[in-house]
Amino acid sequence: MRITLVRGGADGAEVRQDEYEIPDEGLASISSALQYVARNYDGSIGYYLSCRRGMCACCVVRANGKIETACVTPVTDGMVIEPVKATLRVKDTVVDLSMARENQFSFTAEG
Ligand code: FES
Repeated sequence: MRITLVRGGADGAEVRQDEYEIPDEGLASISSALQYVARNYDGSIGYYLSCRRGMCACCVVRANGKIETACVTPVTDGMVIEPVKATLRVKDTVVDLSMARENQFSFTAEG
């Protein structure tokens, strides 16, 4: 099967769509597909993985336009995987889910 990964964003890198061929069987989730791509095509792709059980939501991505928890969502042929919100992109599918930096600064400046 093929997946498309919307990449870029780190240090002003151009945002682009890269297609990858992955095995039809043996990859149970979007996260496992991203790991396959990292191990077999490009180790520099950005993705996040922690609990692997759908508990922490650190791996959240937008898949075919819908927000999904990557580690427990099946990967499907033709799937387009992108960051949950492009304006929060750190790199590839990794986003900054912390509070806005301006707020963090004002908290520390006031305190
Ligand atoms: S890694 Fe924790 S929910 Fe996916």
